[in-house]
Amino acid sequence: MKKVPVPVDRKASPTLSGNRRSVTAVYPGSFDPITNGHLDLIERGSRLFDRLIVAILENAAKEPLFSVEERMEMLREVTRPYPNVSVDSFHGLLVDYMKERSAQVILRGIRAISDYEYELQMALMNNRLWPGVETVFLMSSEAYSFVSSRLIKQVFELGGDVSGLVPPIVEARLKNRVRRGA
Ligand SMILES: Nc1ncnc2c1ncn2[C@@H]1O[C@H](COP(=O)(O)OP(=O)(O)OP(=O)(O)O)[C@@H](O)[C@H]1O
Ligand SMILES: [Mg+2]
Repeated sequence: MKKVPVPVDRKASPTLSGNRRSVTAVYPGSFDPITNGHLDLIERGSRLFDRLIVAILENAAKEPLFSVEERMEMLREVTRPYPNVSVDSFHGLLVDYMKERSAQVILRGIRAISDYEYELQMALMNNRLWPGVETVFLMSSEAYSFVSSRLIKQVFELGGDVSGLVPPIVEARLKNRVRRGA
């Protein structure tokens, strides 16, 4: 049987354009603060991509517990063991930032069905804004599938134990920042 070649629009696809061998991924998020769930994704992402940029979205609509600078400091500290991981922040459209940094892939995580709907919307919108950009989803590891920054902050404020769910440096910063128990 004759093989019919599948047409690929190389111009439209940043991941296939030219002879690019190295793939740079961006892992965007608020990381307020970074949890072991995020860190697990970063470690796995660092093995999949040549370069991984963890990028804090500066979101004026959200009132964060930690400033962007503080979040960057914590991220830098915990990603030090991974030489191909860097930390940055951005505002505006993710796809514009990616073009600036010559990144082709968006890394995101999915914990439960509840994440899926929003993540699908974002992936499709980003694809529309920059056709061909790929969003790669990693399933949360079982151990961290219930962990979110919001829940960590809530539990910590109420005096709950979050050790093992966030890096020790984050726990220390939470202790300094949050008045516990009511
Ligand atoms: N425990 C986790 N396992 C896998 N992916 C995760 C985990 N926590 C967050 N992510 C993913 O990381 C990305 C960035 O998430 P985000 O910065 O919103 O973190 P978050 O923990 O959900 O914080 P918040 O509670 O403030 O929304 C998203 O794709 C999110 O689904
Ligand atoms: Mg979230």
